[in-house]
Amino acid sequence: MENNSIKKRIKKLRSEITRLRNEYHTKNTPNITDDVYDSLTKELKILLLKYPEFNDKNAPENRVAGKALDKFTKVKHKVRMLSLNDVFNEEELYDWEKRIKKLLTEKMSNFNYFCEVKFDGLAVSLIYEKGKFIKGATRGDGFVGEDITENLKTIKSIPLSLTEAEIVPDYIEVRGEVLMSKKTLIKLNLENEKNGKPLFANSRNAAAGSLRQLDPSLAAKRELDFFAYDIAEISLDKSLSKHSDKHKYLKGFGFQVGKDEAICKNLKEVINFIKKFEKVRPDFSYGTDGVVISVDDLKLQEVLGVVGKAPRYMAAFKYPAEKATTIVKDIKINVGRTGVLTPLAIFEPTLVAGSTVSKATLHNMDQIERLDLRIGDTVVIEKAGDVIPKVVEVLTRMRTGKEKKFTMVQKCPVCGDQIERKSALKNSKRAGLLSTESVAFYCINSKCSAKNERYLDHFISVFEIYELGPKILRRFKDEGLITDAADVFTLTKEDIAPLERFGEKSAENIIKEINLKKKILFSKFLFALGILHVGEETARGLATNFGTLEKLISSARQGLTEISNIENIGPAVSKSVFDYFRDEKNLNFIDKLLKNGVIIEKVEKNKKGKLSRMIFVLTGTLSQMSRELAKEKIISLGGKVSSSVSKNTSYVIAGEESGSKLTNAKKLGVKVINEKEFLDMLK
Ligand code: IVH
Repeated sequence: MENNSIKKRIKKLRSEITRLRNEYHTKNTPNITDDVYDSLTKELKILLLKYPEFNDKNAPENRVAGKALDKFTKVKHKVRMLSLNDVFNEEELYDWEKRIKKLLTEKMSNFNYFCEVKFDGLAVSLIYEKGKFIKGATRGDGFVGEDITENLKTIKSIPLSLTEAEIVPDYIEVRGEVLMSKKTLIKLNLENEKNGKPLFANSRNAAAGSLRQLDPSLAAKRELDFFAYDIAEISLDKSLSKHSDKHKYLKGFGFQVGKDEAICKNLKEVINFIKKFEKVRPDFSYGTDGVVISVDDLKLQEVLGVVGKAPRYMAAFKYPAEKATTIVKDIKINVGRTGVLTPLAIFEPTLVAGSTVSKATLHNMDQIERLDLRIGDTVVIEKAGDVIPKVVEVLTRMRTGKEKKFTMVQKCPVCGDQIERKSALKNSKRAGLLSTESVAFYCINSKCSAKNERYLDHFISVFEIYELGPKILRRFKDEGLITDAADVFTLTKEDIAPLERFGEKSAENIIKEINLKKKILFSKFLFALGILHVGEETARGLATNFGTLEKLISSARQGLTEISNIENIGPAVSKSVFDYFRDEKNLNFIDKLLKNGVIIEKVEKNKKGKLSRMIFVLTGTLSQMSRELAKEKIISLGGKVSSSVSKNTSYVIAGEESGSKLTNAKKLGVKVINEKEFLDMLK
């Protein structure tokens, strides 16, 4: 054959192989025999060996190939990968609807919902340029994920090229879930059992474990699947107007999209969908944990926006977790990084939702009292979201009278030092609700080894120094190489290499990794410090508000007011931030970190804080959003809303039929803007 016809044959083979694959994966109609597929693939392989000039690393036959990587590189997501707020029953679903309808004008309130299955896998983002798959990443913290392109290429239901589609967008970012089927998981676990390897608790863990393999050929063996559910960004001539349109497009591009989906006119229809799927769910080929419900209209989605980590326009209905009963053999005390003492129930091991559970945190004394839980009790445990086990009920009828009440220890179980009662925060599950306070017990010994170890683990994991896991950190501590987290940054190759089981190569890797991770975002740095009550989200809030460490410290020195004025920061948090930065020991620790080479990166400029220091007054009726929502948008961007005009007002937003406030504004010379100008400020 001459070159041209070989080229044509290869092209045909490739497109037929892709079609068959597509047929098999997307339409789920395996009516072609594997043999046909296999022999076409074989022919292609032989041709390419003979004519290597036609090799194309993006071609379908190269899915399984790819080099093993040393490490995954970081990818900053162009569009943040969000999470969903959960609802657990019909009442909460109606509450959600009430909340969103309150934010919409009457005219907007008649909309459709879109329902689809919530897959229990691993969220990934896929980028295609000119129809070619060029990059795929994990969710990470929603802002930055890991580049797992090579591993994703091994997944047959991820098209490597969209060029077969009718229209090929220049750019598209697809969001979806990587999964392992229930069947494959059973097969894999049987194999692992035979080979004495640990078993995966569920298909999500198995999928995650497979994608984290640095060698793509290992990931390829795991037979993963991909379901697309969203388009984060697309360049098309016309813009899409519905979430359901996104699904149509995704199908058109050759993606596998969940087959169970529906447009529903109201929540009654949504609930019907939920009930219908619940019936088939046990026999569904993949792990699912609920139904995702979206406001179908994309314009309304934009109006409703995002609060915290989750969009307002979507909700995840979660099916009840599986339950099982067991006996509480003991209640132990765990010492956390802040010194908090957490009671932990130790169970007679039992199987729940496919994996063995032998312990569960009881969170605090309040919970033990609320449940009236005693050692020796028979309890109902449940795995929320199929992962974290929790005690939901005590079967008091099963009591024999030998059960023992649990009392909080008087001294730290690890260091034997004093214990102090402090108020703690209990975060409510749903966004929008305020945190409530409860009492917790803390070990106050700053030298407590358990506390310090947890703290060190936390600190290093926030810095993402993956080479230094808890075991290695413990070893370094025992060997006297480090006394605190700051010492990690002055470690040298010569310190580590002589240690038994380490050697030159691994010492070098560790030092390389530490040097690489020395630079850290301000928000992450704050989170790493492990300030009581300061989690990731709060740290981000503090970082955007203050911009630099110096400003935060000097504000804390001046008092509580500025910190407690920040949105979403309650009294317990601001007090704890205030206390932290007034403590000389902590300031010395920060000093040591900076001296040892930690570099705090400037806060990325983003939309947050865009309206900071601006005071708005709303008057008249707006046409695009309710006053309520306008108010929330201003606050979420750092601005303030006041009810009356004064000389401190930055802008008066005048809707239709504005009244006396407008007159006042003119009198005081305050700038008046219309709705459109206001909307532009939000962009
Ligand atoms: S839409 C705003 N649709 O559930 C985030 N998510 O609990 C976009 N998930 O991070 C979510 N199936 O990983 C959506 N059909 C589906 C889904 C789905 C599974 C995952 C996704 C998300 C998580 C939130």
